[in-house]
Amino acid sequence: ASTRRHTFVVREASYTRLCSTKNILTVNGQFPGPTIYAKKGETIIVDVYNRGKENVTIHWHGVKMPKYPWTDGPEYITQCPIPPGSKFSQKIILSSEEGTLWWHAHSDWTRATVHGAIIIYPKNGTKHPFPKPNAEVPIILGEWWKSDVNAVLEEMLATGTDPNVSDSYLINGQPGDLHPCSKSGTFKLMVDHGKTYLLRIINAALQDILFFSIAKHKMTVVGTDGSYTKPLTRDYITISPGQTFDVLLEANQRPDHYYMAAKAYSSAQGVAYDNTTTTAIVQYRGYYTPSSPPSLPHLPGHNDTNASVHFTSSLRSLADAEHPCNVPLNIGTKLIYTLSQNTFPCANDSCLGSTRLATSINNISFQSPTIDILQAYYYNISGVYGDKFPSVPPLVFDFTAEDPPSKYDTPRNGTEVRVLEYNSTVEIVFQGTNLLAGTDHPMHLHGYSFYVVGWGFGNFDKNRDPLRYNLVDPPLQNTIAVPKKGWATIRFKASNPGVWFMHCHIERHLTWGMDTAFIVKNGKHPEAQMLPPPSDMPPC
Ligand code: C2O
Ligand code: CU
Repeated sequence: ASTRRHTFVVREASYTRLCSTKNILTVNGQFPGPTIYAKKGETIIVDVYNRGKENVTIHWHGVKMPKYPWTDGPEYITQCPIPPGSKFSQKIILSSEEGTLWWHAHSDWTRATVHGAIIIYPKNGTKHPFPKPNAEVPIILGEWWKSDVNAVLEEMLATGTDPNVSDSYLINGQPGDLHPCSKSGTFKLMVDHGKTYLLRIINAALQDILFFSIAKHKMTVVGTDGSYTKPLTRDYITISPGQTFDVLLEANQRPDHYYMAAKAYSSAQGVAYDNTTTTAIVQYRGYYTPSSPPSLPHLPGHNDTNASVHFTSSLRSLADAEHPCNVPLNIGTKLIYTLSQNTFPCANDSCLGSTRLATSINNISFQSPTIDILQAYYYNISGVYGDKFPSVPPLVFDFTAEDPPSKYDTPRNGTEVRVLEYNSTVEIVFQGTNLLAGTDHPMHLHGYSFYVVGWGFGNFDKNRDPLRYNLVDPPLQNTIAVPKKGWATIRFKASNPGVWFMHCHIERHLTWGMDTAFIVKNGKHPEAQMLPPPSDMPPC
C-alpha cells in the first residue's frame, strides 16, 4: 500500500458568520477543514502541529486503526493531548473502510470547528457497487455559536444546566441565506440536468441529530459510515452526529434552483426550529428564469421519532459475494448497557445550583483520567482506571411515568472499562431510559464497525426481541442512534486489540459522562497483537 503525507496546522483564524466575527480553531486556516482523499487499505501520515492556544487531539472517526490505537486520538483514552507548540505525527491506517468517513478534534469541544471529510475510494481495479456518478461533493453539516465555544462549555459546567443552543446549523460552513448576513456565502451545488452527483454527507454538528432533504429531489443512500448499503431511495435522511451517508442525487427536475436543508430532530432544548433551518442551493446550469424564492424541502417535525426511526431502520448492508455480511451468529459476550440522563448533587462538584446534569451508562458517569488509559494498560500503571465495567440484567422501565426507578436517580462517578478476549463475539443491547424525559443517543464505538441487528421501542425483551434480529443483511455502522425510550442491539467480533472508546456522540452527553471504553486483549499469534507506540506520543 502506498503512503500519503499531510500537514495539519491547528491554529486560530478569524471567521465572520451571522453578522459577527470571531476567532475559531481551524486546521490550516480552513473551515470546514481539508478533505483527506485515500484508497482502500492505504496508510496515511498526518503531521499535526498545534499552533493554537489550547490542547488538542485529532481523531479519525470510523477508521479502525488495526492494532494501532496509539494515534486514534480521543484525549485521555489513547493519548494525552498535544500541547500548544508541539507536534504529533499520526498514522491513519485504513483497512476495510470504503466510502465516506471524517476526522475531528477529540478534546473538549474543539471539534465544533476542527473537522473535515475522509473520502476513501475503491482499490485500483475495483469499483463502487453503484453506477459512476458524474461528480461528487462533501456536504458537511455543522453548528455555529456567535460566542466562543469554550465559553459555552465553561458556562454549561459552571451552571450544571443545558448549554446555550447554537445560533445556526451549517452546510459546508455556511448558515445559508435564510439567516442574516449569510446570502453571499451560501453553499451552491451547480448541476447539469441529467447528471448524477454523489453527496458525501457528514453530520459534524456538536449537539443534534439532523433531518436533511433536497426540495423536489429524491436521494438514494448507497453507503453509510464507510461501508456500502443496499440502495435506499428517500425524500429525507436522518443523520446523527458522527454518522456519514453516501447519497446519489439525480438532477432530473425542471431546471431551476432548489434548497437543500437541514434542521434538528429531537433537540431537547426547545428552540424555534424553523429559524434554525440551514439551507444551501442546488442550481441547474443553463438559461431559465429561476423561481423566487427557491422551493424549500419538506422536513419531518423536530420531534418526529417515527420519521427518524423509519429512515434509520430501513438501512441494509449489501450482503453480496463481494461485500459479505460477517455478523457474528454465536455470541460469547452479551452485554446490556443502559443510557441515562441524570442529575448529580452538587455538594462536592463544580457547579452552582444544588444539582447538575449528568449522563451515565449502567449508572456510571465516566470520569476522564489524567493519563490516558492506553498508556496505563500498556505499561501496567495502576490506579488510572478500573476494569469492572458492569453489564446489567434487563431492566424494566416504566415508560409511561416520568419518574425513574429510584436506584437510577443518581449515578456514581467512575473510570471503568470492560476487558474483552481477543476474537470474542460481542453483543451489546443499548437500553434507553426515560430519566429526565430521555432522548436519542447516537452511540459510537472506536476501532470497529458493528452490525446493527435490531431495535425497538420500550424495554428490551430478552426472550422475544432476539427472534426478530436481522442476521442476513444488517447495516454495518460505527454510530447508531438508540431511539428515545427504546433499545438497539449491535454485534461485532473483538478482532482489533487495543483500547477503544465508546460514547454518545452528542457532545454534551459525552462531557457529562455517557462514555466507557473496551480493552481488547492481544491474541496469541504475533499478528494478533497491538503494535508498539510511536516515539513521539504527547507526554502526560
Ligand atoms: Cu467521532 Cu469518539 O468520536
Ligand atoms: Cu446522548
